[in-house]
Amino acid sequence: MQLRVKCTMEVINKTAPWAQLLKLADDAKTMSLRHEFESDQSRFDKFHVLFKDFLFDYSKNLINENIIEELYSLASEAGLKDKIEQMFTGIKINNTEHRAVLHTALRNFGTEPVLVDNFNVMPEIKRILEKIKIFTDKFHSAEISGFNGKKFTDIVNIGIGGSDLGPAMVCEALKHYAIPDLKVHFVSNVDGAHISETLKRLNYETTLFIIASKTFTTQETMTNAQTAKNWFLSHSNTSQDDISKHFVALSTNKDAVQRFGINLENMFEFWDWVGGRYSLWSAIGLSISLFIGYNNFEELLKGAYDADIHFRNEQFNHNIPVIMALIGIWYRNFLDIPTYAIIPYSQYLSKLPEFLQQLDMESNGKCTDKNSLSVEYQTGPVIWGSAGTNSQHSFFQLIHQSTQKIASDFIAFVHNLGNENFSDFIDHHEKLLSNFFAQTEALMRGKTESEITAELRNQGKSDDEINEIKYHKIFAGNKPSNSILIKNLNPRNLGTLIAFYEHKVLVQGIIWNVNPFDQWGVELGKQLAGIILPELKSDNKVNSHDCSTNNLINFYKTNKNTND
Ligand code: F6P
Repeated sequence: MQLRVKCTMEVINKTAPWAQLLKLADDAKTMSLRHEFESDQSRFDKFHVLFKDFLFDYSKNLINENIIEELYSLASEAGLKDKIEQMFTGIKINNTEHRAVLHTALRNFGTEPVLVDNFNVMPEIKRILEKIKIFTDKFHSAEISGFNGKKFTDIVNIGIGGSDLGPAMVCEALKHYAIPDLKVHFVSNVDGAHISETLKRLNYETTLFIIASKTFTTQETMTNAQTAKNWFLSHSNTSQDDISKHFVALSTNKDAVQRFGINLENMFEFWDWVGGRYSLWSAIGLSISLFIGYNNFEELLKGAYDADIHFRNEQFNHNIPVIMALIGIWYRNFLDIPTYAIIPYSQYLSKLPEFLQQLDMESNGKCTDKNSLSVEYQTGPVIWGSAGTNSQHSFFQLIHQSTQKIASDFIAFVHNLGNENFSDFIDHHEKLLSNFFAQTEALMRGKTESEITAELRNQGKSDDEINEIKYHKIFAGNKPSNSILIKNLNPRNLGTLIAFYEHKVLVQGIIWNVNPFDQWGVELGKQLAGIILPELKSDNKVNSHDCSTNNLINFYKTNKNTND
């Protein structure tokens, strides 16, 4: 077994700021947010950042000026500024895969070169962007059409993980901007139900399949892609040549794309320095460009670029992703809060929590640091959530009154999208926003025993009735949250929002000294599935696994051909 070499320089939890934060955490455990607000009218002034269309209010967190200053020291101690610069300048910070990490180059509208191994990657990025633009324009003008000349009506993106969640989330978020009469579908699961239910609704003459896979070897994607190809060929009764009219590939793997039967002219390339969960800005975003038009896709990229400039240049105390990350570290490592909820008050952002789940959990769900040492502190939190107000009627009970502490981000938009002239929808929007404002206030303030008693007394309840119910109605409050209030939901602001979260994850990875850009933890299950698949197809009973797995597999094999 390889020796684990200790590199104390990098062990962040042995630093002075870490020790100081541990001390501050003892006091913070008894901090009352309600009291902090009542005693300091300038709390909001101290703890918010305005950036373009964004108001980031972090005042409803269990922090004070000492804590936040110490968190900045922790970031400095970790060499954050230099390490951010390393990412932007193409240093191979993905150390386990010896790769640069350059999703920021994909949305770089500056003029400076970005070098990987002394090679400027910007011309290639611009070439592919131009190819996406031309393809998108020709697709919309029907210059690119199906094998018998019919205009495309449906796009099916076949991909999984980062090759699915990003484009799916963005297309849902920006569907107000969609090209009329165009539908986009996302097929990811290897469960045949996913592709079969999608194919049922499609016309083979007017459907474009986008096979999105960085590696072009992912089992789920290649299985679904083959099924789509067989479906198209069997329905259209055409030749292999017509496949190129209905199938395009987004990948880094030219050989596999060709072997699948897709003409390289129909391949939109990207590069190994684009991580899967950071890839929606690359060719993986083709479905976005087709669905909302190239100009809107470019706006999305420009919004991310705005965030990149902010992140790269702004001081820590005005830097939204840095502050988001440090508050997350504070909860994870010092206040023992293991989960983080994302609650967008926007139905359009309903897929954002799932996207952020992969972004954050696949990046920082690590127990070995960059020096191959076991980490001695908590790393990535559990990320979860769903859109408000729906979530108020499902899991909010637990956030408000359970024994757990949960930190959360609340996200909302000032303007109602596209329905400005119809007053009914303005009423909807103000009801939505009143809940957005109310929930963070309620989580922070809570409701005390004396407030409940007075309220019940006002309602004419007797002392006995009050005593019977009052403890069930107490809200402890003190539940922390960030509020991100954005003027409009448009491509640019969405790009900024997503990039803020990407950078938050990077900052946390830097402080925890883990590599956020690999994902070895997904390998074992894949390997075992590779062993089990032939066992499912054979006639023999299985006995090579543990007794649980053997019996589960054998139950399947015994029953697979009977249905009684
Ligand atoms: O789940 C592992 C993973 O590698 C993700 O990181 C990635 O987004 C996904 O699989 C899909 O990979 P690919 O784009 O190569 O098909």
